[in-house]
Formats: sequence, structure tokens, C-alpha cells
Amino acid sequence: MPSSRKRTAVLASGGGTNLQALIDAASDMDFPAEITLVLTNVDGAFCLERARRAGIEGLVIDHRQFESREAFEAAMDRELRDRNIELICLAGFMRVLQDRFVNDWHDRMLNIHPSLLPKYKGLHTHARALAAGDSLHGCTVHLVRAALDDGPMILQAQVPVLAGDDEDTLQKRVLVREHEIYPRALALLAEGRVDVRGPDAWIDGTKGPLVLLPELGEARL
Ligand code: GRF
Repeated sequence: MPSSRKRTAVLASGGGTNLQALIDAASDMDFPAEITLVLTNVDGAFCLERARRAGIEGLVIDHRQFESREAFEAAMDRELRDRNIELICLAGFMRVLQDRFVNDWHDRMLNIHPSLLPKYKGLHTHARALAAGDSLHGCTVHLVRAALDDGPMILQAQVPVLAGDDEDTLQKRVLVREHEIYPRALALLAEGRVDVRGPDAWIDGTKGPLVLLPELGEARL
């Protein structure tokens, strides 16, 4: 019987700790998605080693070999379709994607961002949260739209900002929760529990994002 687990590609440019969290979750055959491809634009990136160890195909498509962003993305798209990929997870993929690719994967591509969106789109989110004196910070998994770090939000996890935090300590605290919410959000999408209405994702009939509070730790999903 063919598997009903959604064939998922993870796109990464670096070390891929979120990739590892996704691989670990999907190693359970009851998880509703399987990671069948790790695609990177950086030859030698550690995410390829993580793929190799897990027996997952790793593919390098170096953006510098293409004359335009569109040509690079068309090449990625071909490879993804050749492998019957159904869902994409961006996990530290450091190329801004153009409209065509984003629209082709509409509602089938997730991103994780290290802030409580819509706060702090873009880079240096931890430094910006510290500079603003925020007492709460965190991370968000959302469906990808053409605008950077924008799109219907599925899950957020909050962390406290503690006295004495610097960028490094805060980043580490957030990363732990990234590893928690990314597999959960992928599972929700793969199980068809996410319904997109306009700018919002609804999860099992509740308007997103579902928020995991620092005090509660676990939310029921
Ligand atoms: C994470 O902070 C993620 O939120 C951001 O890029 C970083 C990737 O880290 N989009 P890793 O490669 O998964 O460790």
C-alpha cells in the first residue's frame, strides 16, 4: 500500500538543527510527513551530513551557477517536482524566494522564524528583542508568502527574556522551542488540519497562531 505520509523537502543553507528536529520527528512511521529530500544552496553545509546520516537524499543546487534568482528557483522547482515533493519546510534557507516559486508552492511551504511575528521580520531578531526591552520573545512557524517572513501563522512558542540575557543565551532558548514547534506545525499541515482563510491560518477551527506559553510548556495539539 503506498504511504499516505506527505513527501517533504527541507531547504536549508547551514547547520540544520531544525532539519534535525524534523528528521527525528519523521523517523516515527506514525508521523504524517516523511523527509525525502534535503536541498541546499551551499555545498558542504552540515545539513547534507545530517541528511546522509539519516539516509535521506541530499542535493546541492548552488545559486551562484545561475544567472538569475528565477533560473535558480526554476531549477529547484524541477528537482522538487521530479521527486513528487508535496510539502516544503524552509529551515535556515538563506535565499529570499521570488513570487513565482512562492506562488507555485502556495499553502504547501512552511518557514520558521525566530521571533513572535509580526514582530521583528528579517535578521537579528534576538538583538532587536533585547534592545526593545521585551519580556517575551519566541518563534513562529508560518506558511510562506511573497513578502519576507509574512504569511498565515500556525504555531508560536514564547520564551521569557531573562535578566542578564545576551543574544547568544536568548537565541539558544528560542532554538529549543523552534525544534518543538516546527515538527508539530508540519504535522498539522500534513494532516490537513490547517485551513487558510485570507491572511489567517485556522487550526482545527481555531484562528492561528496557536501559542505555546512559557508557563504551560506543552499545549494540546
Ligand atoms: C533558525 O533560527 C531559524 O529560525 C531561522 O534560521 C535558523 C536556522 O537554524 N529561520 P538551524 O540551521 O535550523 O540550526
